[in-house]
Amino acid sequence: MKIKIYNKEGNEIIPKEKTVFLPEIRVEKNFEHFIIKEIYEQQISSKILIESLKNEQSSILDKIISLIYNSNKIVFIAAGSSYHSSLIASHLLRKLGFESYSIVASEFEEMNYDKKTLVFLVSQSGETMDTILAAKKLKDKVFSLVSVVNVPFSTLHRIADLSLEIKAGVEKCVAATKTYTNQVITFFYLAKLLGMNIDVEKIPRGVSEAIKENEEKIKNLAKNLKDLKDIFIIGRSINYYSSLEIALKLKEIAYIHAEALYGGELKHGTLALIDENSYVLALNPYFDENIKTNIEEVKARGAKLFEIPKDFYVDSDYPYFSLYSVIIGQLLTYYIAKEKNLPIDYPRNLAKSVTVK
Ligand code: G6P
Repeated sequence: MKIKIYNKEGNEIIPKEKTVFLPEIRVEKNFEHFIIKEIYEQQISSKILIESLKNEQSSILDKIISLIYNSNKIVFIAAGSSYHSSLIASHLLRKLGFESYSIVASEFEEMNYDKKTLVFLVSQSGETMDTILAAKKLKDKVFSLVSVVNVPFSTLHRIADLSLEIKAGVEKCVAATKTYTNQVITFFYLAKLLGMNIDVEKIPRGVSEAIKENEEKIKNLAKNLKDLKDIFIIGRSINYYSSLEIALKLKEIAYIHAEALYGGELKHGTLALIDENSYVLALNPYFDENIKTNIEEVKARGAKLFEIPKDFYVDSDYPYFSLYSVIIGQLLTYYIAKEKNLPIDYPRNLAKSVTVK
């Protein structure tokens, strides 16, 4: 079937073709699944992104910085893993003194906005329907729409007034890994430009170490965790957002019921469920004094406890730890799903890009 397109005057419009290139990333190793290949690729895709932010995309970043300074409020709209990276973004902006928050795209009607509200649309595909609907409704009603996408010229890129690319290359596994990491690095970079002390250049090495130092241990651990049904993941402040992302990975790929919660919320209900049969993963970097009490609470009830970084080696400085802990979660999820013989790259009932409301 051939489709022709006409303008209002009845003249045929000949569509122009545009070839889109995503960065090509090669890792010299054979992989059984796309997801583990993509987890490995993070060492390279993170470098490509940082180079691009420093050079090719620096003038777009300058414009975004100026928009941030001239707005009254900054809201991030996203779904799934992109929502979790957005939570990190708004956390960093609040730390820097800006009024900022993140909202799930399907709930964007809950947000208040005006002509001084700057909106970021965060999406690896740029095609998530909930985010597109929000973008269409907000177009020209807010200060500006900035998209942060992996796919150039995607719908969100085209709707937005300004667009940043996260340069993660093609991601085939339904679950986000390297696109999540590059979104977080983009937000770290933005925070750095706004005055936060973050050395993004050391991140590719940190990612690589997180993989190298933990993979064998995680492979072995996964053998003991293949019958795991439920796990609680606790974190506080920025690390709570990482807990959400780790929980999502465990649910979508390893089919494990994983519940992320703020450590401080344990005593308000969930502690009733904690006993010697419970599993808890705690995000416990040295800079978080408050989580230590929560860890004692679950220990006292005999729960089986894993801690990052105590049981897994990662750099535990702020804010890098929030990213590296998710790399541990990605590996753990992959190896448990592999032990369970699951369709890791294409989990049941899920799609890479959700183009329906
Ligand atoms: C789907 C994918 C998730 C992704 C979410 C948002 O549910 O399975 O991995 O995080 O969509 O996608 P986006 O392309 O907007 O980041």
